[in-house]
Amino acid sequence: MGRSRSSVTHGAALMLLFITCRECTGFTVDPPEDLVIFDPGHLGHLEIRWSPPARLINKTECPKHYQLEYFSTYKGGWTAIRTPGRSYSAQFDLMKDIRVKVFTLLSGPCTNGTMVKSKSYTELVQKPLSTGVEGTRVKDFICVFHKMENMECKWGRSAKMPATSQQNLYFWHKQLEHAEECPEYIISGGVRIGCNFTGKVLPDFTDINFCINGSSAEGALKPTFISLQIQNHVKPGATEKLYLRTAPDTQLELHWECPVGSVPEHCLEWEVEHSQEGPDGKIASQQILTQQKSLTLPLIHDDERNCFRVRSQLHKYCVDKSYWSEWSRPNCYPGNVVLLQKHCIKNTNAVPALAMLGALDPQGVYSTCPTLINTCIARN
Ligand SMILES: *[C@@H]1O[C@H](CO)[C@@H](O)[C@H](O)[C@H]1NC(C)=O
Ligand SMILES: *[C@@H]1O[C@H](CO)[C@@H](O)[C@H](O)[C@H]1NC(C)=O
Ligand SMILES: *[C@@H]1O[C@H](CO)[C@@H](O)[C@H](O)[C@H]1NC(C)=O
Ligand SMILES: *[C@@H]1O[C@H](CO)[C@@H](O)[C@H](O)[C@H]1NC(C)=O
Repeated sequence: MGRSRSSVTHGAALMLLFITCRECTGFTVDPPEDLVIFDPGHLGHLEIRWSPPARLINKTECPKHYQLEYFSTYKGGWTAIRTPGRSYSAQFDLMKDIRVKVFTLLSGPCTNGTMVKSKSYTELVQKPLSTGVEGTRVKDFICVFHKMENMECKWGRSAKMPATSQQNLYFWHKQLEHAEECPEYIISGGVRIGCNFTGKVLPDFTDINFCINGSSAEGALKPTFISLQIQNHVKPGATEKLYLRTAPDTQLELHWECPVGSVPEHCLEWEVEHSQEGPDGKIASQQILTQQKSLTLPLIHDDERNCFRVRSQLHKYCVDKSYWSEWSRPNCYPGNVVLLQKHCIKNTNAVPALAMLGALDPQGVYSTCPTLINTCIARN
């Protein structure tokens, strides 16, 4: 016990000595010089460049590193990196202030083997470009990657946007040398309201930078910059095949098939909406989340109508976020024909052939036996 305590004290004393000695070596290092922010036209992906302090330029025997700190508007905080290089590229929001700081870190014979950081730093704050008529930025920019096959981005017009204005969308990602313009605009009422990336493959798990700018009779529109990763904007297709049947032991068995599209099946999770309509017409519904493509429920009340519909999204083990698909068309038990059949039998004590119909699907019955059903309706 006493022994471990003394070793802790000893460690602390050593640490103190070490810090004191580092500070008393008297080595000072200048911060870097010529800090510039270079914009290669990649819509927010900027390159920060600097030079070593003049006094160190010819000291090639001393390894120099730099500590770059920048305010990341996307993360909402400062990010720091250390590099032996003289430039670094990072993603910025061009609608906000860009703030960067760089320190010099020197080691080797110049500092007697210790690493010394410059006391001061070189800083640069760049204001966003003030071009464009105030209040003309687009609103509600939203991108949806339908079925993981076709990306569509849309925007809304702001109240102050001049009627004569025309918007342009440009995009850039790391595989492109230059920003490119939208391959196919979506037009509504004669104006551009979005961009369809029809057949244009955008890479996933990398930032895609967008700029929506434009011009009007009153001058240039204020540009909007957005950066996103497409895998987080997927909307699966609606489920088209939903099967429902009753099992002999009074259970309802529901299963469905994956929607068409390129979303990998292992990434999908499902929401099943189950509505029960009682004889009094009251509807109660519940939502069930599942990773499986089937569901079995007990059929408790025979006089209730059970309807189901299904939708899907990508789960969090594949992507950070996803849109829900549209709901499938509902499938009900008893179906319309079974309801009709019950109604017929109750009211006429007739039409025994209709008893068979419950096993068939409703659309099938209406198309193959319209006369039977019309007879039944006519009799009531
Ligand atoms: C570095 O060395 C070059 C020649 O080797 C000389 O021209 C230059 O002035 C030196 N720079 C500094 C800052 O000492
Ligand atoms: C450099 O470090 C060595 C041991 O690490 C020390 O003995 C020496 O005094 C130091 N020299 C200077 C100039 O600080
Ligand atoms: C975008 O293009 C695809 C493929 O050509 C098409 O199916 C889709 O309807 C288009 N979207 C709009 C909103 O025009
Ligand atoms: C819109 O942005 C693109 C890409 O930066 C640029 O080439 C174009 O000149 C801009 N257009 C207007 C009207 O500002």
